[in-house]
Amino acid sequence: MSKLFFNHVNPAPVDPIFGLTTQFEADPRPNKVNLSVGLYRNDALETPVLTSVKTAEKYLWDTEKSKDYLPISGNSTYLAKIGMLIFGEFFWQKEQKRMCGVQTPGGTGALRIGGEFLKQEVGERIAIPDPTWPNHKAIFTRAGMVVETYPYYACKLHTLDFSRCFDFLKNLMPGSCVLMHPCCHNPTGVDFTFDQWKSLISLFRQNGLLPFFDFAYQGFGTALEEDASPIRLFAQEGLELLVAYSCAKNFGLYSERAGALFILTGDQKTADAVTSKVKSVIRANYSNPPRHASSTVAHILSTPALRTQWEDEVNGMRQRILNLRKRFVETLCSKSNKRDFQFMAGGKGMFCFTGLTADEVERMKTEFAIYMTSDGRINLAGLSDKNLEYVAEKICVLN
Ligand code: LMR
Repeated sequence: MSKLFFNHVNPAPVDPIFGLTTQFEADPRPNKVNLSVGLYRNDALETPVLTSVKTAEKYLWDTEKSKDYLPISGNSTYLAKIGMLIFGEFFWQKEQKRMCGVQTPGGTGALRIGGEFLKQEVGERIAIPDPTWPNHKAIFTRAGMVVETYPYYACKLHTLDFSRCFDFLKNLMPGSCVLMHPCCHNPTGVDFTFDQWKSLISLFRQNGLLPFFDFAYQGFGTALEEDASPIRLFAQEGLELLVAYSCAKNFGLYSERAGALFILTGDQKTADAVTSKVKSVIRANYSNPPRHASSTVAHILSTPALRTQWEDEVNGMRQRILNLRKRFVETLCSKSNKRDFQFMAGGKGMFCFTGLTADEVERMKTEFAIYMTSDGRINLAGLSDKNLEYVAEKICVLN
């Protein structure tokens, strides 16, 4: 018999988010509810292709002549348009020469390429919030970085724990990178206030910390422009920074993997050198990025009527989520005489921490077929006219 190379391999732990979708799909109970993975859903609980995307895809179908490779850095029109969405048109036009911008497969690709570049050229230390998206730790660890967590949220009080967070960051080793969510913090839905961002800017400047923004929900918090304001504040104050951008949610392009990494540097010469190094990291990973999604986004953002339609669609998705948050909190408050759920009302974006413990989350799944991540996070967009009352009622039965 020939040598067996693979029989010692043990299975990896199930993914804390996508593993639940697999379980959900196999669950035969007809009343099951999936509030786990962060996907926008409409009231029919479908994740539709946006009309602006369909129109742009039709245009590509009619006009695209080649599937030739994109450059290693990706589609330049797409990058310029996303750069303007993040930094604002004025800043982009004036400062783009100081910027390294590359297209990546999703926001995850941007985080990983950014992590590898930092490890190789800048430093290996990165602090991520506690809690955060579970993949952050894995991405930066696999990129070879040393990952620590900074306090972000006081679970018992259901609020952001700014003083502990600030004290921790104050004592970070100078030169450390700090990952932050500019809006719609995943998983809590609770963001820094304007004044807190201002204090962070002073601290980052004084202590030589490097901001790395994971920007996956532009338009889902307050509005497209406002959601970018923390990044713009740091940029306008002259700090160098990184942004990992995702078009998964706001363009509904989840499986098309449209993302970008931007690195704002001090001058053009530095930006050129950084770009060349980032391109070498990409070349050794996936060579060059996919064409379809970036062409779709570039066409939408370059065509005024389509852009307006897309903005309307983003506003529509945000409005549905806002309405659901309001209705859900009202329903919970009206049904519960033990817990106060009012703390959930002020959050932003699709995610909301319910305050349920891991045991309670498990009971929601086994007893009621309601799926959420073990930290008690729910995706509000998984609620609908059909299931909202049921979910609220069952949460209240627990306590
Ligand atoms: C989530 O947090 O549910 C989403 O960002 C999907 C993912 O990739 O985990």
